[in-house]
This record gives sequence, structure tokens and C-alpha cells, in this order.
Amino acid sequence: MLMLLLVAAVTLWLCPLVTAQPLCRARRVRTGKVFHVMQDVQGDRLSFSSTTPRLITHPCEKNIALYLGKQVFFTTDNFETSLLPFAIPTSMQVGTPEVTSAHFAGSLLLLVVAQKVYIYDYENHSWNVTFEISNLVFAYFRGDQISQTYIYYSNTGGFIFWKYHDDRQGMFKYSDHPLNRSLGLSFDYNGTLDILIVPGHRGILLLWFEHSLLFSHNAGQLVDTVRVKKGDQTLFSSMFEANVTIHNIAVNENELAVITREDNLYYGNLGVLPSSVIKIADQHVWSEAAALMFRSPGMVEILTPLQDAAFPAFDFQKCLVNIQALLMDPEFHIGRCTIEFLTGEFVHSMHNIDMNSQLELTALLIPQPGTSLVPLVMVSNPHSLGFQAAFYESGHTLDGNTKYNLDIYLKQQQHWGRTDPNFTSSLKRATISTLTVDIANKEISCVDFKPLSTLISVGCDLDKKIVIQNKISACSKGVLEALTLQDNYSFIIEKQFYDPSFQGQPSSQDLRVPYSYKQLGCPLLVYYDTPWKPVVELWRKDTFQEIVEAEYVLLEVNGQFSYRYSLTAKTALCTSQPQNWTTMIKEFGAPFFWNRENYVSCHDPNRNATLRWPDVQYQILGGRTANQIIFSHNNGIYVFYISIVDPYYSYCKLETLFSIYVYGAFPMPLGFAGIIILLFISSILGSVWVAYLTPKLLRTRRGHRIRRFVVQLCGRCKTACGCFQCSASATAGVGTEPPGHHPTPQGGRAEH
Ligand SMILES: *[C@@H]1O[C@H](CO)[C@@H](O)[C@H](O)[C@H]1NC(C)=O
Ligand SMILES: *[C@@H]1O[C@H](CO)[C@@H](O)[C@H](O)[C@H]1NC(C)=O
Ligand SMILES: *[C@@H]1O[C@H](CO)[C@@H](O)[C@H](O)[C@H]1NC(C)=O
Ligand SMILES: *[C@@H]1O[C@H](CO)[C@@H](O)[C@H](O)[C@H]1NC(C)=O
Ligand SMILES: *[C@@H]1O[C@H](CO)[C@@H](O)[C@H](O)[C@H]1NC(C)=O
Ligand SMILES: *[C@@H]1O[C@H](CO)[C@@H](O)[C@H](O)[C@H]1NC(C)=O
Ligand SMILES: *[C@@H]1O[C@H](CO)[C@@H](O)[C@H](O)[C@H]1NC(C)=O
Ligand SMILES: *[C@@H]1O[C@H](CO)[C@@H](O)[C@H](O)[C@H]1NC(C)=O
Ligand SMILES: *[C@@H]1O[C@H](CO)[C@@H](O)[C@H](O)[C@H]1NC(C)=O
Repeated sequence: MLMLLLVAAVTLWLCPLVTAQPLCRARRVRTGKVFHVMQDVQGDRLSFSSTTPRLITHPCEKNIALYLGKQVFFTTDNFETSLLPFAIPTSMQVGTPEVTSAHFAGSLLLLVVAQKVYIYDYENHSWNVTFEISNLVFAYFRGDQISQTYIYYSNTGGFIFWKYHDDRQGMFKYSDHPLNRSLGLSFDYNGTLDILIVPGHRGILLLWFEHSLLFSHNAGQLVDTVRVKKGDQTLFSSMFEANVTIHNIAVNENELAVITREDNLYYGNLGVLPSSVIKIADQHVWSEAAALMFRSPGMVEILTPLQDAAFPAFDFQKCLVNIQALLMDPEFHIGRCTIEFLTGEFVHSMHNIDMNSQLELTALLIPQPGTSLVPLVMVSNPHSLGFQAAFYESGHTLDGNTKYNLDIYLKQQQHWGRTDPNFTSSLKRATISTLTVDIANKEISCVDFKPLSTLISVGCDLDKKIVIQNKISACSKGVLEALTLQDNYSFIIEKQFYDPSFQGQPSSQDLRVPYSYKQLGCPLLVYYDTPWKPVVELWRKDTFQEIVEAEYVLLEVNGQFSYRYSLTAKTALCTSQPQNWTTMIKEFGAPFFWNRENYVSCHDPNRNATLRWPDVQYQILGGRTANQIIFSHNNGIYVFYISIVDPYYSYCKLETLFSIYVYGAFPMPLGFAGIIILLFISSILGSVWVAYLTPKLLRTRRGHRIRRFVVQLCGRCKTACGCFQCSASATAGVGTEPPGHHPTPQGGRAEH
């Protein structure tokens, strides 16, 4: 076998491929040079640190690109004008203006120059510098908005390139479970590798340097060499064996082109089988400054900047290679493409799977008559995304070809129940994955049939939100007036009932709180004496989905603490000390930071916090416990922040604000149990009793408070507002409850 390969190699060396036509016809771009307007470069001219050039294209804008070589050129029209070398303003004081890395992010071009990241906003031509980086690895998520983009140089971005001392072996190391349990498989390499993330994919990497070209489908877990083939034969098992010096490479979603110093152009597709390239031509295509890029599928452009003795602006030589036309040459022994049709409506869009949801995608496939195709479905992150596929005949085309459907059912890998927990990543964390449908037995001639590929986010469905059910609002019952609330309304919280630092300590003065009707609407009406919890609804866009049964927490935004929880850590059957607002505020230094990311259930058997104070209040509502809120005798408006903390309900951070109006707290110096007994004993005496007791009560402190609250409400009343009988008399004070809507004996008593 080895002999055979050697013979093949020698044969090839002796009989280099000669194509009849020239590979491409060169064209020179030269603009703006007729008039003798001499512009010169302003600032420090940038250059690239490597000896071979790179061409970096914008991921979304086809015509925006950066050429890195002895000079750097930035274009917004795909090098269709002569350009001055790109320079950095002298005011940026870069020292040696040598670029080591560059990347596009939105309208920004990020350049690593002298260990600092420089940001060039090409929309308004502004420059800025961010921070110093000490590590050479500079990786971040592509395509994210810059504000959400994290730049990683250590252990959060997915992978770290791990370099052994001198034994020429590399392997990937991962920061996230489950991949952090072991390193990727080691691979040989003989120089400093450049790592390219294949555009439009996650986890598909190309690694290269002068003498090697490596490829990985799975973020580096397995790294394999790209082979050199001719027809069905493998000529060399790696570029190193082919004894060529790679000068520049270009990739698009599924194609790869390589230009070498030996004037060879190689082409291949990034298929699912071990990737391979074929040699297209031995023609004069190489020059020191040449760089490659894909203009469209099957169309490769060789770009060379040309210095102009008379002008500082450079011209560009462009040479467009039509790969498909070249592949028709029988010399290549390439079989015809057996795919007639391959399509799926799911391509070029992002799909979403939130917690416990699923997705079904369908691809349509038509082979050439008399041939059969082997479809392949792949996901780049099987640790979190699992699927099942069905392939079946689904009819015939008008000209008699057989049609096939490929149905793919996707859901979280953890929910298929087929994998070892050591294989799956944490269900809690959102992940992103590429789904690719390809044909295993595809010929290289199928230039037009790209694999169907799409991104699947196992993560938050941004259309989801929570809404608090508000069937009985204070306005619908006439307790408060919507018009009043909309009119710059504010209310007072007395000093003994709130603590702005959320520690439950009385404050030194009363608080006037403006009420935002626009944000909160009319408050939900809650009777003080009934243990309560909100009914939380999940909505998607404008459609109700379900009542949320997951665990959530509430916090009164003004620090009101005149409520408690019905359960304690013990009665909630906690096995460890539960988290509470005090501990969370202490830990995160601010309120409103209790969410699915930091919540740990006290029922979690793995939690390392012994239950030392079983009698503390259990502050988590929903979920498995029947915990509720019990209000003390304090009528008024409460504005609650609600946050769904159950990490397994949704990947979204579901939180909102809502308001309630607690009413009916009858301000009694006696315990209210006493009142109820009194009430049951003598309903006949009720009216007499109230007539006596009410005016007396209103002389007490609580009575004053209620009266003041009512007076304040009434102060905002329009003349039309009859409900409060704005006389502010003693009876009106108790009458904040709407007449005729008293749900309890106590309310009834007030009316008699
Ligand atoms: C340039 O535009 C961006 C927004 O596109 C803005 O954030 C930035 O401040 C602008 N810079 C200058 C110098 O105007
Ligand atoms: C440059 O970035 C800093 C923060 O990194 C910012 O404060 C400053 O406004 C930015 N300058 C411009 C011109 O955008
Ligand atoms: C892997 O990561 C998980 C969490 O991401 C961590 O708990 C675990 O200790 C890590 N394992 C190793 C071997 O680093
Ligand atoms: C690295 O070089 C050695 C010989 O020095 C060779 O055997 C090996 O195949 C090369 N590896 C790659 C990935 O090119
Ligand atoms: C590799 O190519 C160079 C010339 O390009 C030649 O001198 C050398 O002998 C070749 N090596 C092998 C192993 O073929
Ligand atoms: C998961 O890995 C751990 C540590 O390697 C091992 O002890 C455990 O048995 C594994 N679990 C399963 C289900 O294989
Ligand atoms: C709203 O009320 C505050 C005090 O309660 C007052 O200062 C402000 O001027 C009022 N605004 C309007 C538009 O009435
Ligand atoms: C649990 O906490 C104790 C002390 O609080 C510590 O010594 C122990 O190592 C912890 N165990 C684990 C598994 O984290
Ligand atoms: C919160 O929990 C801590 C123990 O974790 C406890 O000391 C504290 O009293 C609790 N706070 C409240 C308000 O229950």
C-alpha cells in the first residue's frame, strides 16, 4: 500500500497536471489616479506580523474586508478601488504598528497591535483602545453584538489551545463540563497554528501553518489532517507529506481553497468524511502578497496588492477562478454529482429550543435516477443537543425521480435519556450548536450542493415573558381609580414599615413613592387576611402559554417588610439552609440579583450547607411547597419584583414588576383572632359595636395612618371620584373597601 502511494506520488510529480485553459484571467483595479491629487498616508502604517498574508472578510457584509500583509488594506467595496495602506492615528501611540490579530464585530474592526486591542469603528472612522492583553489566545463569540461579546483569553470561551513544550503535539483543553474531564485527542503539528472558525458554524475548525492543514468537526476533540486526493485515490495523507508550503487559505461554509508557494491551487469541501483537497493547477498563481477568498460557492478570487511607483495608493490584481468549470476537465477523474436536489426550509436561520421544548426540521432530497444517497445528520455539540432522524421515500417528481424526506427531531440531549450523565453537559446552561445535513457519498463535483446547515440555540426563547394574573384589580372593584393612578399619583409608606436596605429595620422617615401606572397598571387587589401568592402566567409574544408552577421569589422594591412567609426552612422540608434575600443581597452586594443562575434549592441533596437555623422563613414560593405570603395589618400598595429562580424552567431570565393593593387590614389594638370570635358570637350587635369602636380606633396610631392614606388618595380625587366619599370622615376611613364587595365577615361588619 505504501509502495502504491509512493508510486502514485512520483507519477504525479513527474506528470504535473496541465489544464488546457489558463486558471483565470487577471484584472487590475486602478481608480482615482488620473488626476494628480497626491494623497499620503496619515498616521503610522500598519503591517502584519506573519510573513504570509491573511484576508479577513466581514461575516455579514460581503464587501467589507481587511487584507493583512506587508501593508494592511481595509476595504468597504471588496477592493474595487485603489487604496492607501491602512494606518493608525499617531495619537494612538502604538509603538511598533504591527498587527497580530484582527476581527470584525458589527461595525467595529478589532485589531490586536502591540498587545493592546484597538477598535476601529468604520462607520464614523473613530479609533479607540481597550485594554492590555497578556495572553496570545484571543477568542470570542462571533456574530454577537459587541456589547455582549466577551473576549476570552483563558477559561471561559470554550477552548484553550494547549501547547506542549517541545514535542510537537497539541491538544485542546476545555473549560466546560463534560469536556473539561479530559483533553481532546492529541495531534501532531510542526509550527504555530492559525485557527480558523468556519463561518456559519460552531465547533468546526481549520488549523494550519506552512506545512500542515488540519481539520476538526468537533471543536478540537478530534483533529485530523486534510488529505490530498486525486479521483478516489488518496495521494498524500497530509499536506506535510505532499511537501508543499501553504501560503494562504480561504474557507466558506463548506469549501476550502489553498494556495501554495509551489504555484498550486488546491480545492476541497469540508465534508463529513475525512476532509480532502484536490490539486487544481500548476500555473503561475502564487506571489508573495497573494491572498485567497471565496466570492461565492465555487468561485475563488486571488487578490494581490500592487505597488504603484507614481502614487502612494496601491492597485489590486484580481484573478477569479471558476472551480466548477475547472472540475469538468476529465483529467480530474471526478464523477458527476449524484445529487439532483437537496433542500430544507430551516437553513440560514437560528432555531431555538428552550427548556423542555423540542423542534422538528425536515429536509428534502432527490438523487439522480439510478443512484442512492446516504444522508448524514450532525450536531456540533452532542453534549447538549440530541436528535433522532427518519429517512423515507415521500413520492416522485414529475419526471419520475424519487423524492425522499429526512425528518429530524431535536431536543436537549439530557431529555432523550440515552446518554450517560458523564457525556451530557449541564442542563442548566444555554448552549449553541450547528446542525448539518450532508450527503456522505457526495462527489467533489457537487459544488452547488452545500450541506444544509443551521444554528440551534438551546437557550432562552426571547419571546417569553411572565405576567402576573390580575383578574380582580383595585380598579375593577372601584377601590382605586385608574384615572387617579395615571395622574402623577404617589403614596406614602410609613417609616416603621420599610427599610431601603432590605434588612427589615424601621426607617427614620416616611417615604413618598411615585406610582408608575404605565409600568404597573392597576394594582391587583389582595385581602390582607388571606395567605396569598401571585398567579404567574407564561406568555410567548401575545399568547398565553401556561400557569408557571416553577419556583420564584418576591421582593418589595421599596423595602416594605410588613409581610412574612407561611413556611419555615423546617416546614418546607429543607435538607440544607435555604438561601434568602438577606444572604443573597450580602453575597451579591445588591438586591434583585436572585435568579436562575445563582439559585440553589435547599432540597438539593448535593448542597453543602447544613440546616443550622430551621426556623428561618422560607422565602421561595411556587414549586413543590405550598408557601404563601401573609400580610400584617398594613393596608396599601406593594410593588413586587418577581424572579423565576428555578433553573430548569426556562433558560430565560424571567422577571417582572407588579403591584398589589392590600386592603381590609382592620387596625385593631386587640389581636384580630379576638375580633373574629367577637364577630361570630354577636352579629346582631355588630352595627352597634362598629358605631362605637370605629371612631375610637381612628384615634389610635393605626387609625391615623389609615385616615391619612385615605385623605391622600382623596386628595388626588377628581370631583367625579365618588367612591371614597371625600368627606374624609371616620366612616370613610374604614370604607376604603368598596361598598357591596365585602368578601368577609369583617368587611361586612363595617358596612352595617
Ligand atoms: C461612532 O459611532 C458609534 C456608534 O455607531 C458611537 O458609539 C461612537 O461613540 C462614535 N464615535 C465617535 C467618535 O463619534
Ligand atoms: C474609548 O473607550 C473608553 C472606554 O474604554 C470610553 O470611555 C471613551 O469614550 C471611548 N472613546 C471614544 C472616542 O469612543
Ligand atoms: C469541569 O467543570 C465543572 C463545571 O463547569 C466543574 O464543576 C468541574 O470541577 C470541572 N472538572 C474538572 C476536572 O476541571
Ligand atoms: C511534522 O513533522 C514530522 C517530521 O518532522 C512529520 O513526520 C509529521 O507528519 C509532521 N506533522 C504534520 C502534522 O505535518
Ligand atoms: C520537497 O520539495 C523540495 C523542493 O520544493 C525538494 O527539494 C525536497 O527534496 C522535497 N522533499 C521531499 C521529501 O519530497
Ligand atoms: C462518571 O464519571 C465518574 C468519574 O470519572 C465515574 O466515577 C462514574 O462512574 C461515571 N458515571 C457513569 C454513569 O459512568
Ligand atoms: C408630580 O408630583 C410631584 C410631587 O408629588 C410634583 O413635584 C410634580 O411637579 C408633579 N408633576 C406633575 C406633572 O404634576
Ligand atoms: C462542605 O463544607 C465544608 C465546610 O463548610 C468543607 O470543609 C467541605 O470541604 C465542603 N464539601 C464540599 C464537597 O464542598
Ligand atoms: C437568612 O438566612 C440566614 C442563614 O442562612 C439567617 O441567619 C437569616 O436570619 C435569614 N434571614 C431571614 C430574614 O430569615
